[in-house]
Amino acid sequence: MEFKGRDVISINDFSTAEIEHILKIAKEMVPIAQGKKKSNLLDGYILSTVFFEPSTRTRLSFESAMNRLGGRVIDFGDVKKTSVKKGETLADTIKMMSSYSDVIVLRHSSEGAARMASEFSDRPVLNGGDGTGQHPTQTMLDLFTIKDKLGAIKNRHIVFVGDLKYGRTAHSLAYALSKFGAKLTFVSPQSLAMPKEIIQALKKEGTAIDKTQDLQKAVETADVLYVTRIQKERFPDPAEYRKVSGVYKITDKLLENAKKMMIVMHPLPRVDEISPEVDCTEHAVYFEQAFNGVPVRMALLALVLGKRR
Ligand code: NCD
Repeated sequence: MEFKGRDVISINDFSTAEIEHILKIAKEMVPIAQGKKKSNLLDGYILSTVFFEPSTRTRLSFESAMNRLGGRVIDFGDVKKTSVKKGETLADTIKMMSSYSDVIVLRHSSEGAARMASEFSDRPVLNGGDGTGQHPTQTMLDLFTIKDKLGAIKNRHIVFVGDLKYGRTAHSLAYALSKFGAKLTFVSPQSLAMPKEIIQALKKEGTAIDKTQDLQKAVETADVLYVTRIQKERFPDPAEYRKVSGVYKITDKLLENAKKMMIVMHPLPRVDEISPEVDCTEHAVYFEQAFNGVPVRMALLALVLGKRR
């Protein structure tokens, strides 16, 4: 298992053994992520964050992770204030950033952008979300959360709800869960269904897959309810968005017949798909899930920089 110098572009580039190893190191990082233990593991290293799309958690949890490990961060900032505005290509931007830092996190609006960037960078590129493609580091923190809360992933029933067509977090998580032997149910309006090619790939792995529009019924047998935002910004036509916005709403009442141990996850930000009253239930783990981004990203940074094995 070699992580040093490695890019993190697609969750499919990692075996289950490799993912387990990352999660194990992440677990060790928790006290440092909480600020209870100090570390200088990444002293002298620089991370650059290059975000072409809005972000709160991904960018800041990477930043927190790097700072907690004694490293430093340079942020590309608002794209409109950079030479991208003058027409500089992504390839040139990345080449330059790779000469200013030791590792790069990139978020871009085009699927495939992170893969392309990695070809132009001498330093590891971590995909912080490429359009409607993938979001592998989110998937690792999602898996960390599921294992932490439920112990195991195999044979667990994960119900995905929301925007499964454009949702990159749902795409990469579905791939990973399938490798770990989970059972998956997809709940979405027809127009936001999980892409066919992903379903085919999951079936090829032998994953049990169910599709339904009946959320209430799916919730009753769920171990995890993975809620996603209907992403207004991805719709080519605002009228299409209006047709589906607000169709699924997670309320106390919906969870009445859920298993006691069932967890509700969400990559966040939420808009109105989970009502605030759910926050006070035992099921809600989304804020803890967001925290888990810090230790998981610490583990990834330490591994790709060769400071952990
Ligand atoms: C998600 C994203 O950007 O894909 N957020 C995140 O990284 N936690 C989900 C979203 O924007 O809805």
